Amino acid sequence: ESYVVIYFRCIIVEKIMSEAQLKQVVFPVAGLGSRFLPVTKSIPKEMLPIIDKPLIQFAVEEAIQAGAEEIIFVTSHTKIAIEDYFSKNSELEKRLRDSNKNELIQTIHPDYLKNVKFSFVRQNEPNGLGHAILQAKNLITEDFFGIVLADDLILSEVGCLKQLKDIHSKTNSSVLGVFSAPDSELKNYGVIDASQEDELLKLNSIIEKPSINEAPSNLAVFGRYILSKSIFNILEETKPGLNGEIQLTDAIRSFLSSDSVFALEFQGRRFDCGSKEGYVSAIVDRASHLENFKEIVKK
Ligand code: UTP
Repeated sequence: ESYVVIYFRCIIVEKIMSEAQLKQVVFPVAGLGSRFLPVTKSIPKEMLPIIDKPLIQFAVEEAIQAGAEEIIFVTSHTKIAIEDYFSKNSELEKRLRDSNKNELIQTIHPDYLKNVKFSFVRQNEPNGLGHAILQAKNLITEDFFGIVLADDLILSEVGCLKQLKDIHSKTNSSVLGVFSAPDSELKNYGVIDASQEDELLKLNSIIEKPSINEAPSNLAVFGRYILSKSIFNILEETKPGLNGEIQLTDAIRSFLSSDSVFALEFQGRRFDCGSKEGYVSAIVDRASHLENFKEIVKK
């Protein structure tokens, strides 16, 4: 009889694991974007276009591909354009319909956005990424939620957040996206110390912006996370760190003493569109994959 019980337990556990969902995704968009001044004086960095589509739309599409049903923006008063962008513009839709430009309506209000809920919460001062995430605390109802930093653009066949979600489904734990950074760039990122465990990378520790001598590996964390909501209790206790900001990395380090966190080296092309160099590379890359632009890029 005990075998039967174990058998059914296994089935139930497997079912829970395979059905892990990622319904809520937080988009912190309240940063100053000072590396992109002067344009970010009045245009949010996340609205910068990669040809005709703003960075934030790529990021929202990626979240929806991972199963997101609610997108939570952590915004500031300078980011109203993002709110407008995801609102229905009936006046424009009517004008397009009246002038027989129906195909454009799909581009301004695509079907895949229709069932998604958009929520907004303010971060009144840019006190760091950890502080921004903490503002979403009261909106998170699920045990795990995603975080996407839209200025990290990932172009890939399977969306990057979906790749993280697949690891989350296997482990029922928090997961961070990482990439192999050159030595010279490690000082700009959170860098992980991880061990291989059943083909997965399990974190031992994480250091924010280490010098080359302090860096435990070349695996740097970028803008994709799936975190347990217990991170909020830790964020509330996290003191300002580097630059006087509340760092998400510091909270994740404390979290590691009680919970498991895994890392995934994602498949795809990453562009740091918070920097001008990364932004230009992203435009050239996208253009070189689009039929209309290939020749222009070649020239
Ligand atoms: P960045 O480190 O790129 O900062 O933030 P930033 O302010 O946007 O840009 P620079 O460095 O001044 O040029 C990473 C992400 O975290 C968000 C940003 O909007 C970006 O998506 N963030 C950062 C916040 O929402 N609030 C903060 O206080 C800091």
